[in-house]
Amino acid sequence: MNPSNTKAPVSKFAALAAGTSVIAVLAAIAAPAFAENAPWVAPASAAAKKNPFSGSAQAAASGKQIYMTTCAPCHGATGRGDGPAAAALNPKPANYTTKAIAAESDGSLFWKLSEGRGAMVPFKTAYSEKQRWELITYIRTLQGKK
Ligand code: HEC
Repeated sequence: MNPSNTKAPVSKFAALAAGTSVIAVLAAIAAPAFAENAPWVAPASAAAKKNPFSGSAQAAASGKQIYMTTCAPCHGATGRGDGPAAAALNPKPANYTTKAIAAESDGSLFWKLSEGRGAMVPFKTAYSEKQRWELITYIRTLQGKK
């Protein structure tokens, strides 16, 4: 048996896996408008989860790095839901500075970020639990800005 035949094409597969989250985001941008304007409410058990990095400047800085590349195109650099991709979306990307979202628990925002709805794709496989909490920690800093 020729040993070169048993070599698995690992690098090709890894590249494919890394590309899927980008494809998912692009597909969501191109998707037609979703008719999901009903209130979006996290399950009580998820909403009650505590953010282990709440208020940490270091966590917010890590979250910011992901936010600026992945989230800002839709949610805007200052979190007002006015990124360049927002114009084509209905419902619009959330404006984090609204009273309603400021009043939501970290657990609720974490659950929505993880599960997604419509154009807001689920991010639970793209980012680790730690990274998702860091993103929520960063979003909280945007709410403080006027
Ligand atoms: C393709 C555009 C798009 C991208 C990219 C995107 N979002 Fe969203 N996001 C949306 C839309 C649209 C909604 C509103 C969905 C709805 O209400 O059905 C939303 C809603 C949310 C909500 C729920 C707000 C609430 O309380 O109702 C959170 C939290 C959120 N996004 C976080 C993020 C984070 C963090 C990222 C980056 C990792 C991100 N989003 C990337 C479009 C996007």
